[in-house]
Amino acid sequence: MIRVDVDLGDRSYPVLVGPGIRSELAALLPAAIPGGVRRVAVVTERGLGIEVDPGVPFEVFEFEGGERHKTLSTIEDLCRRFAAWELTRADAVVGVGGGIVTDVAGFAASVYHRGIPAVHVATTLLAQIDAAVGGKTGVNLPEGKNLVGSYWQPSAVLCDTEVLSTLPPDEWRCGLGELAKYHWLGGGNLDELALDDRVAACVRIKADVVASDEREGGRRAILNYGHTLAHAIETASDHALRHGEAVAIGLVYAAEVAHRLGRIDAAAVAEHRRVLNAYDLRATLPDGLGDDELIGLFARDKKATREVTFVLDGPNGVEPVTGIPESVLRDALTAVR
Ligand code: GLY
Repeated sequence: MIRVDVDLGDRSYPVLVGPGIRSELAALLPAAIPGGVRRVAVVTERGLGIEVDPGVPFEVFEFEGGERHKTLSTIEDLCRRFAAWELTRADAVVGVGGGIVTDVAGFAASVYHRGIPAVHVATTLLAQIDAAVGGKTGVNLPEGKNLVGSYWQPSAVLCDTEVLSTLPPDEWRCGLGELAKYHWLGGGNLDELALDDRVAACVRIKADVVASDEREGGRRAILNYGHTLAHAIETASDHALRHGEAVAIGLVYAAEVAHRLGRIDAAAVAEHRRVLNAYDLRATLPDGLGDDELIGLFARDKKATREVTFVLDGPNGVEPVTGIPESVLRDALTAVR
């Protein structure tokens, strides 16, 4: 078992990585939640089939999986079911699943009774290396992805690497797309590490970034490397591509933009393509997504405050960049077609 701590003062919490680590949930809860918990609402996706034992009375609350169901009406439905079960502030939510589950379970925990503790049992690669760690929770609107949400740090995260062997190939690829970004965030040659070490290395990077900038006042934005185009692809294609698959295309696109701005050389762009290739990830846009639509969606990205912001590689490493001419954004799209 590998332990990584997210250092946030009195809200610090452990992320435990290892095969079968979900069986530690009952032992972990009393330490993770001061005073312990009376009951647990286990929130999971219908049909996931991964069971946990919190060691206290619990009820399983399932919702329909998929980005289409990551909505405010799912939150309302869960909260109403919590209320019907008389969940209180002496209780906790345990989210069991991938990033959609931990986003939804975390958001429901953050608003129910103005906030009750949450613990995540992350069962996908994407959730383990990104979504479950760092306290971002939320749901989609028809206008865009993750447009409503909150920062609600979990009390602990369990990354069970045993269950990763059961992931469908597209879900595995989805995680690899998100994992690929860590190559440019200080991860180095992650592809050379054993799985548990690779997951833990990503968690360590994420924990460090979150500890230094919990609410994305600055540095945390680097975790969105590759995400501006990715979010636009997901919205424009109505989530035809998985999040991480869209991030993979977004990483190469960001490299192409950075190259056109003179921030990185052609070899650095080629390195982006090499890493994605090593993970067997596609770096071209799906058919049917027009430049105007994608560029219009860039402006609606959450990182765009007054103008379009991209996270780009450069001489100082990966950082948020504004003031990119639209002609550059358009031209770089041709490189991912
Ligand atoms: N997934 C990006 C973040 O947690 O900030």
